[in-house]
Amino acid sequence: MVLAAKVLVKEIRMEKQSAPVEIALRDVSVSYPVASSGRKTVLSKLNLDIFAGEFVAVLGETGCGKSTLLRLVLGQEFPTSGSIVVDGKQVTRIDSRCGYVPQKYSLFPDRTMMQNVMYGPENAFCGWLGRLLPSFWKFRRNLRLEAEAQLLRMGLHAADFNKYPHQLSGGMQQRVAIAQALMMKPPVLLMDEAFSALDPSTRASLQQQLREIWQETRPTVLFVTHNTSEALLLGTRLVVLGAHRDNCQEGNVILDMPLPQSSDPIAIRKQSSEFQDLREFVKAQAYGSSSRQDELQPLHEALLRGDSL
Ligand SMILES: Nc1ncnc2c1ncn2[C@@H]1O[C@H](COP(=O)(O)OP(=O)(O)O)[C@@H](O)[C@H]1O
Ligand SMILES: [Mg+2]
Repeated sequence: MVLAAKVLVKEIRMEKQSAPVEIALRDVSVSYPVASSGRKTVLSKLNLDIFAGEFVAVLGETGCGKSTLLRLVLGQEFPTSGSIVVDGKQVTRIDSRCGYVPQKYSLFPDRTMMQNVMYGPENAFCGWLGRLLPSFWKFRRNLRLEAEAQLLRMGLHAADFNKYPHQLSGGMQQRVAIAQALMMKPPVLLMDEAFSALDPSTRASLQQQLREIWQETRPTVLFVTHNTSEALLLGTRLVVLGAHRDNCQEGNVILDMPLPQSSDPIAIRKQSSEFQDLREFVKAQAYGSSSRQDELQPLHEALLRGDSL
Protein backbone atom coordinates (compact mmCIF):
# COMPACT_ATOMS: atom_id res chain seq x y z
CA MET A 1 0.00 0.00 0.00
CA VAL A 2 2.74 2.42 1.01
CA LEU A 3 4.83 1.44 -2.00
CA ALA A 4 1.88 1.81 -4.38
CA ALA A 5 1.14 5.25 -3.01
CA LYS A 6 4.79 6.17 -3.41
CA VAL A 7 4.85 5.20 -7.07
CA LEU A 8 1.56 6.91 -7.83
CA VAL A 9 2.50 10.18 -6.18
CA LYS A 10 5.68 10.21 -8.25
CA GLU A 11 3.61 9.58 -11.39
CA ILE A 12 1.46 12.62 -10.61
CA ARG A 13 4.57 14.71 -10.25
CA MET A 14 5.97 13.57 -13.57
CA GLU A 15 2.65 14.23 -15.24
CA LYS A 16 2.59 17.71 -13.75
CA GLN A 17 5.96 18.45 -15.24
CA SER A 18 5.15 17.20 -18.73
CA ALA A 19 1.55 18.48 -19.08
CA PRO A 20 1.07 22.04 -20.31
CA VAL A 21 -0.21 24.70 -17.94
CA GLU A 22 -3.95 24.99 -18.54
CA ILE A 23 -4.77 27.68 -15.99
CA ALA A 24 -2.21 30.25 -14.90
CA LEU A 25 -2.91 32.84 -12.23
CA ARG A 26 -0.26 35.51 -11.88
CA ASP A 27 -0.23 37.91 -8.93
CA VAL A 28 -4.00 37.86 -8.84
CA SER A 29 -5.55 40.24 -6.33
CA VAL A 30 -9.21 40.93 -5.73
CA SER A 31 -10.55 43.60 -3.43
CA TYR A 32 -13.92 45.23 -2.94
CA PRO A 33 -14.80 48.69 -1.66
CA VAL A 34 -16.34 48.53 1.79
CA ALA A 35 -19.00 50.84 3.14
CA SER A 36 -17.02 52.13 6.12
CA SER A 37 -13.68 52.91 4.51
CA GLY A 38 -11.09 51.52 2.14
CA ARG A 39 -11.25 48.11 0.52
CA LYS A 40 -11.57 44.53 1.64
CA THR A 41 -8.91 42.29 0.14
CA VAL A 42 -10.11 38.79 -0.72
CA LEU A 43 -7.23 37.46 -2.80
CA SER A 44 -3.77 38.95 -2.59
CA LYS A 45 -1.09 38.23 -5.22
CA LEU A 46 -2.25 34.69 -5.73
CA ASN A 47 0.00 32.64 -8.01
CA LEU A 48 -1.12 29.23 -9.17
CA ASP A 49 -0.31 27.03 -12.16
CA ILE A 50 -2.80 24.27 -12.90
CA PHE A 51 -1.67 21.67 -15.39
CA ALA A 52 -3.80 20.08 -18.11
CA GLY A 53 -5.63 17.03 -16.83
CA GLU A 54 -5.13 17.74 -13.12
CA PHE A 55 -8.06 17.36 -10.74
CA VAL A 56 -7.42 20.13 -8.25
CA ALA A 57 -9.53 20.03 -5.10
CA VAL A 58 -9.77 23.42 -3.39
CA LEU A 59 -10.52 23.64 0.33
CA GLY A 60 -10.60 26.59 2.68
CA GLU A 61 -12.67 28.30 5.33
CA THR A 62 -15.82 30.18 4.31
CA GLY A 63 -15.07 33.57 2.82
CA CYS A 64 -11.46 32.85 1.85
CA GLY A 65 -12.17 33.39 -1.86
CA LYS A 66 -12.83 29.94 -3.33
CA SER A 67 -15.91 30.97 -5.32
CA THR A 68 -14.16 34.19 -6.33
CA LEU A 69 -11.30 32.10 -7.72
CA LEU A 70 -13.70 30.04 -9.85
CA ARG A 71 -15.54 33.12 -11.12
CA LEU A 72 -12.21 34.64 -12.14
CA VAL A 73 -11.19 31.56 -14.13
CA LEU A 74 -14.67 31.43 -15.67
CA GLY A 75 -14.48 35.09 -16.72
CA GLN A 76 -17.57 36.09 -14.77
CA GLU A 77 -15.49 38.42 -12.61
CA PHE A 78 -12.14 40.14 -13.18
CA PRO A 79 -9.21 40.66 -10.82
CA THR A 80 -8.38 44.05 -9.37
CA SER A 81 -4.83 43.34 -10.54
CA GLY A 82 -2.89 40.43 -12.00
CA SER A 83 -3.69 38.13 -14.90
CA ILE A 84 -5.51 34.87 -15.56
CA VAL A 85 -4.70 32.78 -18.59
CA VAL A 86 -6.73 29.71 -19.58
CA ASP A 87 -5.45 27.48 -22.36
CA GLY A 88 -2.94 30.11 -23.47
CA LYS A 89 -5.46 32.95 -23.68
CA GLN A 90 -6.09 35.80 -21.28
CA VAL A 91 -9.55 35.50 -19.72
CA THR A 92 -11.63 38.44 -20.91
CA ARG A 93 -15.13 36.96 -20.93
CA ILE A 94 -17.09 33.76 -20.31
CA ASP A 95 -16.52 31.27 -23.11
CA SER A 96 -16.94 27.59 -23.86
CA ARG A 97 -13.48 26.58 -22.63
CA CYS A 98 -14.84 26.37 -19.10
CA GLY A 99 -17.81 24.31 -17.94
CA TYR A 100 -19.20 25.65 -14.65
CA VAL A 101 -21.38 23.98 -12.06
CA PRO A 102 -22.36 26.48 -9.36
CA GLN A 103 -23.48 25.55 -5.87
CA LYS A 104 -27.06 26.67 -6.40
CA TYR A 105 -29.17 25.05 -9.04
CA SER A 106 -28.73 26.97 -12.23
CA LEU A 107 -31.10 25.46 -14.79
CA PHE A 108 -33.36 27.45 -17.08
CA PRO A 109 -36.72 27.23 -15.28
CA ASP A 110 -38.74 27.35 -18.50
CA ARG A 111 -36.90 24.53 -20.24
CA THR A 112 -37.22 20.81 -19.69
CA MET A 113 -34.37 18.66 -18.44
CA MET A 114 -33.57 17.63 -22.03
CA GLN A 115 -33.84 21.18 -23.38
CA ASN A 116 -31.56 22.43 -20.61
CA VAL A 117 -28.88 19.91 -21.51
CA MET A 118 -29.14 20.49 -25.28
CA TYR A 119 -29.23 24.28 -25.09
CA GLY A 120 -25.45 24.97 -24.92
CA PRO A 121 -24.30 22.81 -27.85
CA GLU A 122 -27.31 23.87 -29.94
CA ASN A 123 -26.46 27.51 -29.48
CA ALA A 124 -22.79 26.91 -30.11
CA PHE A 125 -23.64 25.09 -33.37
CA CYS A 126 -25.57 27.93 -34.93
CA GLY A 127 -27.85 30.92 -34.49
CA TRP A 128 -31.53 30.98 -35.38
CA LEU A 129 -30.92 31.22 -39.13
CA GLY A 130 -28.66 28.17 -39.05
CA ARG A 131 -31.58 26.15 -37.75
CA LEU A 132 -33.10 26.29 -41.21
CA LEU A 133 -30.23 24.24 -42.63
CA PRO A 134 -30.85 20.50 -43.15
CA SER A 135 -27.56 19.74 -41.37
CA PHE A 136 -29.00 21.27 -38.21
CA TRP A 137 -31.59 18.53 -37.87
CA LYS A 138 -29.02 15.78 -38.27
CA PHE A 139 -26.84 17.51 -35.70
CA ARG A 140 -29.82 17.83 -33.39
CA ARG A 141 -30.74 14.15 -33.65
CA ASN A 142 -27.19 13.15 -32.71
CA LEU A 143 -27.11 15.73 -29.97
CA ARG A 144 -30.28 14.34 -28.47
CA LEU A 145 -28.78 10.84 -28.37
CA GLU A 146 -25.71 12.26 -26.69
CA ALA A 147 -27.83 14.20 -24.19
CA GLU A 148 -29.84 11.07 -23.36
CA ALA A 149 -26.63 9.11 -22.74
CA GLN A 150 -25.23 11.90 -20.55
CA LEU A 151 -28.43 12.15 -18.48
CA LEU A 152 -28.67 8.36 -18.05
CA ARG A 153 -25.04 8.31 -16.98
CA MET A 154 -25.88 10.86 -14.29
CA GLY A 155 -28.43 8.41 -12.92
CA LEU A 156 -31.47 10.20 -14.36
CA HIS A 157 -34.35 8.36 -16.00
CA ALA A 158 -35.93 8.73 -19.44
CA ALA A 159 -39.34 9.23 -17.81
CA ASP A 160 -38.08 12.53 -16.37
CA PHE A 161 -36.43 13.95 -19.50
CA ASN A 162 -39.39 16.19 -20.30
CA LYS A 163 -39.89 17.49 -16.76
CA TYR A 164 -39.20 21.09 -15.80
CA PRO A 165 -36.73 22.03 -13.04
CA HIS A 166 -39.51 22.76 -10.50
CA GLN A 167 -40.68 19.15 -10.93
CA LEU A 168 -37.24 17.79 -10.00
CA SER A 169 -35.60 17.25 -6.62
CA GLY A 170 -32.47 19.23 -5.74
CA GLY A 171 -30.29 16.18 -6.36
CA MET A 172 -31.83 15.65 -9.80
CA GLN A 173 -31.35 19.31 -10.71
CA GLN A 174 -27.72 19.11 -9.74
CA ARG A 175 -27.24 15.98 -11.86
CA VAL A 176 -28.77 17.87 -14.80
CA ALA A 177 -26.45 20.84 -14.15
CA ILE A 178 -23.42 18.54 -14.29
CA ALA A 179 -24.68 16.86 -17.48
CA GLN A 180 -25.26 20.33 -18.93
CA ALA A 181 -21.67 21.37 -18.19
CA LEU A 182 -20.26 18.12 -19.60
CA MET A 183 -22.23 18.38 -22.85
CA MET A 184 -19.96 21.18 -24.04
CA LYS A 185 -16.96 18.88 -23.52
CA PRO A 186 -15.07 21.71 -21.88
CA PRO A 187 -11.32 21.28 -21.42
CA VAL A 188 -11.77 22.95 -18.02
CA LEU A 189 -14.46 22.03 -15.53
CA LEU A 190 -15.16 24.40 -12.62
CA MET A 191 -17.30 23.02 -9.81
CA ASP A 192 -18.29 25.15 -6.84
CA GLU A 193 -19.48 23.02 -3.92
CA ALA A 194 -21.54 21.24 -6.52
CA PHE A 195 -22.35 18.30 -4.24
CA SER A 196 -22.80 20.10 -0.95
CA ALA A 197 -26.59 20.31 -0.99
CA LEU A 198 -27.03 16.62 -1.81
CA ASP A 199 -27.92 13.74 0.49
CA PRO A 200 -24.99 11.43 1.34
CA SER A 201 -25.90 8.59 -1.02
CA THR A 202 -26.53 10.88 -4.03
CA ARG A 203 -23.30 12.64 -3.18
CA ALA A 204 -21.34 9.38 -3.06
CA SER A 205 -22.74 8.22 -6.38
CA LEU A 206 -21.99 11.55 -8.09
CA GLN A 207 -18.46 11.54 -6.67
CA GLN A 208 -17.88 8.14 -8.22
CA GLN A 209 -19.40 9.24 -11.55
CA LEU A 210 -17.33 12.39 -11.68
CA ARG A 211 -14.16 10.52 -10.93
CA GLU A 212 -14.90 8.03 -13.73
CA ILE A 213 -15.73 10.78 -16.21
CA TRP A 214 -12.52 12.55 -15.32
CA GLN A 215 -10.53 9.34 -15.80
CA GLU A 216 -12.08 8.79 -19.22
CA THR A 217 -11.85 12.28 -20.70
CA ARG A 218 -9.29 14.01 -18.45
CA PRO A 219 -10.60 17.56 -18.34
CA THR A 220 -8.73 19.93 -16.05
CA VAL A 221 -10.93 20.17 -12.96
CA LEU A 222 -11.04 22.86 -10.29
CA PHE A 223 -13.30 21.40 -7.65
CA VAL A 224 -14.20 23.60 -4.69
CA THR A 225 -15.58 21.79 -1.66
CA HIS A 226 -16.05 22.19 2.05
CA ASN A 227 -15.72 18.50 2.57
CA THR A 228 -12.17 17.37 3.33
CA SER A 229 -12.82 13.69 2.55
CA GLU A 230 -14.37 14.58 -0.79
CA ALA A 231 -11.35 16.71 -1.70
CA LEU A 232 -8.89 13.98 -0.78
CA LEU A 233 -10.81 11.20 -2.51
CA LEU A 234 -11.41 13.00 -5.79
CA GLY A 235 -8.39 15.22 -6.32
CA THR A 236 -4.98 14.52 -7.77
CA ARG A 237 -3.81 17.69 -6.07
CA LEU A 238 -5.02 19.66 -3.08
CA VAL A 239 -4.90 23.42 -2.73
CA VAL A 240 -5.96 24.90 0.60
CA LEU A 241 -6.72 28.61 0.51
CA GLY A 242 -6.64 30.82 3.58
CA ALA A 243 -8.43 34.11 4.07
CA HIS A 244 -6.28 37.14 3.37
CA ARG A 245 -5.27 38.91 6.56
CA ASP A 246 -3.82 42.41 6.60
CA ASN A 247 -0.84 41.32 8.61
CA CYS A 248 0.00 38.17 6.69
CA GLN A 249 2.20 37.53 3.71
CA GLU A 250 0.94 37.73 0.16
CA GLY A 251 -0.73 34.81 -1.52
CA ASN A 252 -3.62 32.87 -0.08
CA VAL A 253 -2.30 29.36 -0.60
CA ILE A 254 -1.62 27.65 2.71
CA LEU A 255 -1.19 24.14 1.37
CA ASP A 256 -0.52 22.85 -2.15
CA MET A 257 0.36 19.18 -2.53
CA PRO A 258 -0.18 16.16 -4.75
CA LEU A 259 -2.65 13.62 -3.42
CA PRO A 260 -1.96 9.90 -3.28
CA GLN A 261 -3.96 7.97 -5.86
CA SER A 262 -5.40 4.51 -5.60
CA SER A 263 -7.45 2.25 -7.80
CA ASP A 264 -9.56 1.17 -4.80
CA PRO A 265 -13.19 2.34 -4.82
CA ILE A 266 -13.83 5.54 -2.89
CA ALA A 267 -15.84 3.75 -0.18
CA ILE A 268 -12.93 1.41 0.62
CA ARG A 269 -10.25 4.10 0.61
CA LYS A 270 -12.23 6.10 3.13
CA GLN A 271 -11.79 3.33 5.72
CA SER A 272 -7.98 3.16 5.72
CA SER A 273 -6.02 4.59 8.63
CA GLU A 274 -3.66 6.38 6.20
CA PHE A 275 -6.65 8.20 4.77
CA GLN A 276 -7.93 9.15 8.23
CA ASP A 277 -4.51 10.58 9.15
CA LEU A 278 -4.27 12.54 5.94
CA ARG A 279 -7.76 13.90 6.50
CA GLU A 280 -6.98 15.02 10.02
CA PHE A 281 -3.77 16.68 8.93
CA VAL A 282 -5.49 18.62 6.15
CA LYS A 283 -8.37 19.67 8.39
CA ALA A 284 -5.87 20.98 10.92
CA GLN A 285 -4.14 23.02 8.21
CA ALA A 286 -7.31 24.33 6.66
CA TYR A 287 -9.52 24.99 9.63
CA GLY A 288 -7.33 25.28 12.73
CA SER A 289 -5.14 23.31 15.03
CA SER A 290 -5.38 19.64 15.91
CA SER A 291 -4.13 17.93 19.05
CA ARG A 292 -2.23 15.61 16.70
CA GLN A 293 -0.66 18.32 14.54
CA ASP A 294 2.94 17.56 15.59
CA GLU A 295 2.36 13.86 15.19
CA LEU A 296 1.01 14.39 11.67
CA GLN A 297 3.79 16.71 10.52
CA PRO A 298 5.99 13.85 9.21
CA LEU A 299 3.04 12.74 7.07
CA HIS A 300 2.90 16.18 5.51
CA GLU A 301 6.61 16.19 4.81
CA ALA A 302 6.39 12.73 3.28
CA LEU A 303 3.52 13.80 1.02
CA LEU A 304 5.36 16.89 -0.14
CA ARG A 305 8.43 14.76 -0.91
CA GLY A 306 6.13 12.33 -2.68
CA ASP A 307 7.98 9.39 -1.19
CA SER A 308 5.55 7.68 1.12
CA LEU A 309 2.17 7.75 2.77
N1 LIG B 1 -19.33 41.34 -5.17
C1 LIG B 1 -18.81 41.39 -3.94
N2 LIG B 1 -18.79 42.54 -3.23
C2 LIG B 1 -18.22 42.58 -2.00
N3 LIG B 1 -17.68 41.53 -1.38
C3 LIG B 1 -17.69 40.35 -2.04
C4 LIG B 1 -18.25 40.21 -3.34
N4 LIG B 1 -18.10 38.91 -3.72
C5 LIG B 1 -17.47 38.28 -2.70
N5 LIG B 1 -17.24 39.15 -1.70
C6 LIG B 1 -16.56 38.82 -0.45
O1 LIG B 1 -15.38 38.13 -0.77
C7 LIG B 1 -15.10 37.15 0.21
C8 LIG B 1 -14.85 35.85 -0.47
O2 LIG B 1 -16.05 35.36 -1.00
P1 LIG B 1 -16.14 33.93 -1.70
O3 LIG B 1 -15.20 33.87 -2.83
O4 LIG B 1 -17.58 33.73 -2.00
O5 LIG B 1 -15.65 32.97 -0.52
P2 LIG B 1 -15.80 31.38 -0.35
O6 LIG B 1 -16.36 30.82 -1.60
O7 LIG B 1 -14.41 30.90 -0.05
O8 LIG B 1 -16.69 31.17 0.83
C9 LIG B 1 -16.27 37.14 1.16
O9 LIG B 1 -15.92 37.84 2.32
C10 LIG B 1 -17.35 37.85 0.41
O10 LIG B 1 -18.20 38.52 1.29
MG1 LIG C 1 -18.18 29.85 -2.06
